[in-house]
Amino acid sequence: CGITGYVGDSDALPIVSSTLANLEYRGYDSAGVALGNAELEIYKAEGKIGELTLPDSSTARSGIGHTRWSTHGPPTDENAHPHTDCTGEIAVVHNGIIENHAELRAELGAEHTFTSDTDTEVVPHLIEEHWDGEDLLDAVSAVVDRLAGSFAIAVLVEGRNEIVAARQDSPLVIGHGDGETFLASDVPAFVEHSRDVTFLEDGDVARIEPDGVEIYHDGERIERERTAVEWEAEAAEKGGYEHFMLKEIHEQPRALRQALTGRVDALSGDVDLDLGLPEEYLQSLEEIQIVAAGTSYHAGLYAEQLLEELADVRVTTHVASEYDVGGGRDPWQTLVVAITQSGETADTLEALRSAKASGARTLAVTNTVGSTVTREADETVYIHAGPEIGVAATKTFVSQVATATMLAVALGRTRGALSRDEASAVLDSLRGLPGAIQQVLDREAEIEAIAQEYADREAFFFLGRRLGYPVALEGALKLKEISYDHAEGFAAGELKHGPLALVTDDVLVLSVLTQGSNPEATLHNVAEVDTRGAATVGFGEAKGDGSVLDHSFSVPEAGLLEPVVANVYMQLFAYHVARSKGRAIDKPRNLAKSVTVQ
Ligand code: G6P
Repeated sequence: CGITGYVGDSDALPIVSSTLANLEYRGYDSAGVALGNAELEIYKAEGKIGELTLPDSSTARSGIGHTRWSTHGPPTDENAHPHTDCTGEIAVVHNGIIENHAELRAELGAEHTFTSDTDTEVVPHLIEEHWDGEDLLDAVSAVVDRLAGSFAIAVLVEGRNEIVAARQDSPLVIGHGDGETFLASDVPAFVEHSRDVTFLEDGDVARIEPDGVEIYHDGERIERERTAVEWEAEAAEKGGYEHFMLKEIHEQPRALRQALTGRVDALSGDVDLDLGLPEEYLQSLEEIQIVAAGTSYHAGLYAEQLLEELADVRVTTHVASEYDVGGGRDPWQTLVVAITQSGETADTLEALRSAKASGARTLAVTNTVGSTVTREADETVYIHAGPEIGVAATKTFVSQVATATMLAVALGRTRGALSRDEASAVLDSLRGLPGAIQQVLDREAEIEAIAQEYADREAFFFLGRRLGYPVALEGALKLKEISYDHAEGFAAGELKHGPLALVTDDVLVLSVLTQGSNPEATLHNVAEVDTRGAATVGFGEAKGDGSVLDHSFSVPEAGLLEPVVANVYMQLFAYHVARSKGRAIDKPRNLAKSVTVQ
C-alpha cells in the first residue's frame, strides 16, 4: 500500500492525487483521498487511482491519500481508505496490519458503527474516543499505544491544517518544502517537490504542518536527521518509454556504472565497499546465509555460487519466508545477508530479525536509502540502481548480481582465496558488463520478433545450469509476472526427472548456453525437447549440435557474468510477449512492488 499527505500554501487536491499516482506501484486495487476543509471531503473507490472520481477543484490546503493492496477485506469501495470515525470528522489512511483489530473492535462496542471489513477502521474510531478537540498528536499517540502489528498511519481532522503520522514497521518519509510539507511511504511520491527528507523511525509520531514538523518518540520531542535525496525527478518518470519496465531495462548499463563507481580498481584487483565489518571477522567467517524474496532470491542464488567460488565460504540461500536459523552452527561466525530491492519486504525483514536474535551478524544489500532493512541490519551495501517503478524487477536484479560480485571479490581478497590476478580478471568482466548488456539491448528488435512469433504458445520453459539456473528461474518469473503465461524455470538436468512430461509442440523452451552455465550439457537437454517437438531459443554459444536450436542469440564475453547478460534477452522477451497481449506491464494484476505483509 502507499500513503501520501500534503499540508501547505497550495491546493492540496492536485498534489495529493499526483503524489499518490507516483506510489501506485506499491498497490493499486483501490484508492482514496481525504481533503481537509471545514468539512472533510472524502473520495474513494475500488480500482486504480486514475479511475477515482475527484472534483475539478477544492479549496483544501491539506490532504491525505492512499493506494491499497488488499490484506483484510476484498478491494471494494467500502474497504478503500481513507476510513473515518462515526462523526466523519477524522480520516485515516494506513499501511500494514493491525493484528489486534478484532479485539479493539469488540472493545469499541455497539456505539461505533463500522462500514468496512478492514483492520484499519478501528483507528479512526479509537481516535474519536480520545479526541478532545485540542491536541491531535496526543490523541493519536494514545491510540498508537493500543495498536499491535505493523502500521504507517496518517490522520487528518476537519478544520485543522495539520497531519499527524505514526510509524511502526512500515515506512514513512517526510519531505520538507518552503511553506509546505509532504508525507509519503516512499520518496518517489514527492521527489519533484522536495528532496530534503526525514525518514521516520519505528515508534515515531509526527505532527506535520506547513512550516515544519515535530517528531515525538516515547512521548519526548526529538530531532531526526534530514537527508538530501539525490534522485532526479525525471528518473522517476518514464523518459519517453512506453512503460517504466522498458525504461528500466534500457537503464541497466547506466545503473551498473553507478553501482561500480568509486568501488572497483580492476588493475589492483581491489574493491572498496566500505563494508564496516572487521577484517578478522571476515577472515574467520564460516558461513553466509542469504535471505531474500522474488527476484532478489534469484540474485541470491547467483551470489551464492559467486561467493563459494571466489571467496571460499560456505553459502546457503533461503526463500525469506521459509528461513529458519539452523541450529548447531555458530551464529557469531555466520553472516546473514538480506538482499532486498525495496528494503521493506516483510518476509525478508522477519528473516533478518530472527537471524539477529540468534546472534548472527547481518548485512543488507538494498537499493533504498533509509529503508527499514538499512536501519535493522548491522551494515548496508547499496546497489545504487536508482528508483525502480515497474513492479517486475529488472535493473535491480543485474545491479544486485554486480554488487554480489564485488562483495565476493572483496571477501575473496580478504580471505586469501583470490589472487590479485584472479580478482582483476573478475573485475574486468564486471567493468565490461554495461557494454555487454548494451550490445544485447541493441538487438531488441530481433527478440521482439521472436516474442511476437511465439507469444501464443501454451507454456514457456527456461533451462539453465550452474549460474544459468537462477537466470532461468528469473527469466520464467519475469514472463509469468507480466504476461500471465505459464512459465517455469528448471535446472536443465532435472528436466528428464519430470518436467519433460509437459513438453509438447505447443511449448517454447529458452535456454542459457553461456560460459559459467555448463552449456554443452544443457544443449543435450535442448535436444531432448527438440525431439518432442518444442520450439527452442538459445542464449549463448555451446559446442555441439546447434541444429537443435530454432533461434540462437550470441552473448558478449563477460566471464562469470555472462548468464546475467543472457538474462537481459529474457527481460526483453517477457516485456514484448506481455506487450503483444496488452498486459498492464508496470502494474501486473495481483502483484505489488513492495510487499510489506507476511
Ligand atoms: C515483490 C515484487 C518482486 C520482488 C519481491 C522482493 O514480490 O513484486 O518484484 O522481487 O517483492 O522484493 P524486494 O524489494 O525485497 O527485493
